[in-house]
Amino acid sequence: MACWVSVLSLACMGSLLRCIQASPCPLLPVPNNVTENPCSSPSVEAMPVYPKEAQRASIKIKNTPSFLLPLFLAHGTFQELDLSNNELRSLPKTLFHDHPEMDTLDLTNNLLEDLPPEIFKNSNALRKLVLHRNRLATLQPSWFDSLQRLDALDLSNNLLKDVPPSCFSKLENLTYLDLSFNFLHTLTPQMLQGLPRLEKLKLKGNQLLSVTNGTFQGAPNLKFLFLQNNTLTSLPAELFKPLNHLEMLDVSNNKLNSLEPHFSSQATKLSLDLSSNPWTCDKNMSALVTWVKQSVVFLCAEPQTTCDSPKNLEGQVVTSLLPSTFDSC
Ligand SMILES: *[C@@H]1O[C@H](CO)[C@@H](O)[C@H](O)[C@H]1NC(C)=O
Ligand SMILES: *[C@@H]1O[C@H](CO)[C@@H](O)[C@H](O)[C@H]1NC(C)=O
Ligand SMILES: *[C@@H]1O[C@H](CO)[C@@H](O)[C@H](O)[C@H]1NC(C)=O
Ligand SMILES: *[C@@H]1O[C@H](CO)[C@@H](O)[C@H](O)[C@H]1NC(C)=O
Ligand SMILES: *[C@@H]1O[C@H](CO)[C@@H](O)[C@H](O)[C@H]1NC(C)=O
Repeated sequence: MACWVSVLSLACMGSLLRCIQASPCPLLPVPNNVTENPCSSPSVEAMPVYPKEAQRASIKIKNTPSFLLPLFLAHGTFQELDLSNNELRSLPKTLFHDHPEMDTLDLTNNLLEDLPPEIFKNSNALRKLVLHRNRLATLQPSWFDSLQRLDALDLSNNLLKDVPPSCFSKLENLTYLDLSFNFLHTLTPQMLQGLPRLEKLKLKGNQLLSVTNGTFQGAPNLKFLFLQNNTLTSLPAELFKPLNHLEMLDVSNNKLNSLEPHFSSQATKLSLDLSSNPWTCDKNMSALVTWVKQSVVFLCAEPQTTCDSPKNLEGQVVTSLLPSTFDSC
């Protein structure tokens, strides 16, 4: 059970200490696996949750201004710290410096616009960092310098327009990166440099107009890639080619009219969501459909994957068209 602390009572310090010293607060057992049909499975997108550990202590601190946080954290050690929903606008520079044991930090739903450059200097044990729903407009690469153990990083629902070059390049153990619902308009190879273990990358609900060829070279182990709800009009032909382990690509709700089927031949468990795009049903689409049918590719939301042009094929499900139909247009 989480430990709730209010600054207004003196008793709170006592209850905080009891929480730290006595009863470890267990994590919720959310499944972190992949079900048969990744298209509709929420668990594919879900963040990793770590197994409950014997002496795990968890602190949840509520209604606390940031200047009082060091007081609360001064006693005891803890693996998990939940500072969500606190209206925090800033964090003291050294807040976590005496807590190298911390492995999970949740800062969801605060008002953070920035973080001190060395905030995580001693956080070498950190495995999960959640900054969901804040107001971060830029990322500082120095935040991530010491986080070689970090496994999951959630930066969704912030105000990010950009990712600085090599920002994540120290995150050698990162498997999960969520950048959904920001304001990114382009992706380049520099942004994803040095992510050898990355498996899930979520970029939905940004304003992506373009993705440079080679962007995913720095993350060759990507399995799940979510690019839906952006404004992509086209993608480089060989963009996904380096992804030998790709299992799920979601480009639904974009403005794509063409996609070339240049995927790695080693990606043998692939599911694609191409729905809600204005596809041009020409020879390129014919090649894509033929490839989908011949290989073991699973097409999600097939009824919503329709032609937008030419006019005589508008609204037709792309897979219902025989290659001969395409040839005639
Ligand atoms: C995923 O986890 C759930 C809950 O732990 C379990 O019931 C289900 O069988 C698992 N599925 C797979 C494919 O492992
Ligand atoms: C990265 O993860 C692997 C496998 O979980 C582990 O053996 C290794 O020690 C980790 N690296 C760091 C720097 O923690
Ligand atoms: C695209 O990038 C890949 C490496 O990811 C490279 O092999 C290929 O030549 C590039 N294609 C073009 C047209 O630049
Ligand atoms: C994506 O866009 C579609 C159509 O605009 C909308 O119905 C859907 O709710 C959006 N999904 C997300 C996750 O924003
Ligand atoms: C197929 O796609 C390529 C690259 O996107 C484009 O150059 C070409 O014109 C397309 N072919 C047709 C028949 O539209």
